Amino acid sequence: GKDGYRHYMEKELHEHPVVIGQTLQRMIDPVTRQVVLPTLSFDLATLPRAVITACGSAFYAGLIGRYWLEAEARLPVDIDVASELRYRNPPLTEGGLGLLISQSGETADTLAALRGLRSAGQHVVSVLNVEASTMGRESDAVLGMVAGPEISVASTKAFTAQLAVLASLTIAIAQARGVLSPARQQHLTASLLDLPSRAAEVFVQGDAIRAMAAIIAEARDVLYLGRGICFPVALEGALKLKEISYIHAEAYAAGEMKHGPISLIDRTVPIVVIAPSNILFDKTLSNLQEARARGGRILVFTDAQGAARLKDLAEAIVVLPTVDAFVAPILYTIPVQILAYEVALLKGTDVDQPRNLAKSVTVE
Ligand code: M6R
Repeated sequence: GKDGYRHYMEKELHEHPVVIGQTLQRMIDPVTRQVVLPTLSFDLATLPRAVITACGSAFYAGLIGRYWLEAEARLPVDIDVASELRYRNPPLTEGGLGLLISQSGETADTLAALRGLRSAGQHVVSVLNVEASTMGRESDAVLGMVAGPEISVASTKAFTAQLAVLASLTIAIAQARGVLSPARQQHLTASLLDLPSRAAEVFVQGDAIRAMAAIIAEARDVLYLGRGICFPVALEGALKLKEISYIHAEAYAAGEMKHGPISLIDRTVPIVVIAPSNILFDKTLSNLQEARARGGRILVFTDAQGAARLKDLAEAIVVLPTVDAFVAPILYTIPVQILAYEVALLKGTDVDQPRNLAKSVTVE
């Protein structure tokens, strides 16, 4: 049941901290603090490259995984949505990693892409919530995301659980490749293990998120902006808003603004910005100044340091706990999903069963 929550989505949003903790418990030995993977039939140290594929939110988790694998494990990564990858026929080196991400393990396009990667000689590893699924059976290895059943059509806790798995896998691959110093390994692991507590703190920001939701609920179009590893969080926010509130939203990499979408900006198009104070913060800030100068209403998710610098520019700010840049995309996803939920409540839509959507897309 819904345990007293109004919707499954609300219940599942509140499960983020616990689910992240459970997934990390599965991935990281509490005593040695080393990542523990199931026995693999191949060597992580010699993988030439990885291809990541998935659909919808799971694809956005994959985009974040690409940043991690490239930056920390120095592994070359190709990524595409499964509906494209399955027909692309890219040249692949035998013995690469085919990494699939799926909550259900049954998504038709992801399954077809899995079979294509397998016949192209890739080692197929699937990040799945439903491990006893078709993808689970057809993979060389399964990394379980331990999210528990996800009923809401809009994916929430499965997304952060996918990220917890991908972050852990990144550490394991980076170590196997000999590119991660022990100090960096300890730092990344500690930042992950710290996350459940930080995630729980997000929920004290309910009023600030609702203030933002009130502005968005009046809009017909919304822009979501992020840079680097937070761009996929913007994509996830825009998708979730579209799915359950039926408001049109587009996500852009902040640096792409002046290549087109800036022409849309006026008072009627709120701009939601994912901007933790990381090395790209100043770049995002200058994009926001340009948007503000054109009348844009700026709504920001940031930390205390970012909030201090944005207070004159932003109309609404949600201040999140300060976390390491490595785990910021996991933390920031939570309030961005809550925002979509709050807007849907204001719109009075059928949150758990949005029109035209199915939980599991088993036909192409
Ligand atoms: O079961 P899967 O993870 O393979 O599903 C993929 C997408 O269909 C799914 O993430 C979809 O985009 C959600 N409705 C997003 O909220």
